[in-house]
Amino acid sequence: MEVLRAENISKIYCQNAVSFQALRGVSVTIQKGEFVAVLGRSGSGKSTLLNILAGLDKPSEGKVCIEGTDIFHLSEEKRTFLRRKKIGFVFQAYELLHSLTVIENIRLPELTKDAEYVEELLDALKIRQYEKSYPDQLSGGEQQRTAIARALVNHPPILFADEPTGNLDSRTERVVIDLLKNLAAKYETSILLVTHNEELVRDADRVIRLEDGEIVNG
Ligand SMILES: Nc1ncnc2c1ncn2[C@@H]1O[C@H](COP(=O)(O)OP(=O)(O)OP(=O)(O)O)[C@@H](O)[C@H]1O
Ligand SMILES: [Mg+2]
Repeated sequence: MEVLRAENISKIYCQNAVSFQALRGVSVTIQKGEFVAVLGRSGSGKSTLLNILAGLDKPSEGKVCIEGTDIFHLSEEKRTFLRRKKIGFVFQAYELLHSLTVIENIRLPELTKDAEYVEELLDALKIRQYEKSYPDQLSGGEQQRTAIARALVNHPPILFADEPTGNLDSRTERVVIDLLKNLAAKYETSILLVTHNEELVRDADRVIRLEDGEIVNG
């Protein structure tokens, strides 16, 4: 089953009367449960693509359908609602709220109030002991595991992760990615992961390579 279909996505950034084309006619489909790695040099358009596929930014051209819904034909409000239900996003810099504890950060986007599942996430990501801690009291890997729990708390069919382990040492990175993959496999969550790590790329079902805003392989 197809979870995401993006057709002919272009993105032109305009700044101070200068325009720059960051994406050129990119088309992507992602199947249910598929783990896709996105590779490309700095500036090739990886973050731009993820942000558009996740509905965080609008394309200049093209369309994105998530489980059959054309997300840029929705009102801003409806798109936000769909994003909360259907999409998890993990950022490189974790982006946790520092005034909230671990458990408050995780529960923040929760719509389902599925307390049992929240417990499972705490255990699966090995952060139960930090439940009442604040992000500033945690290591990078612990913050990132919290960010993953938050991204998965609504059982999204797709998880986007933009270099989620870029700040971690390679052993911690391996641990975090394995936890993420196990959870995703269990719930048939599709993953689109931007990484520079060749070892993680070998784990992927499929690799998308971007060069100057274009996909250079299938
Ligand atoms: N808001 C913006 N305004 C203007 N140009 C932008 C903006 N965001 C990104 N760009 C440009 O678009 C291109 C693609 O940026 P993007 O962030 O998608 O690259 P990336 O592949 O994620 O790079 P990195 O590996 O460094 O994160 C870059 O040349 C960047 O300078
Ligand atoms: Mg980027």
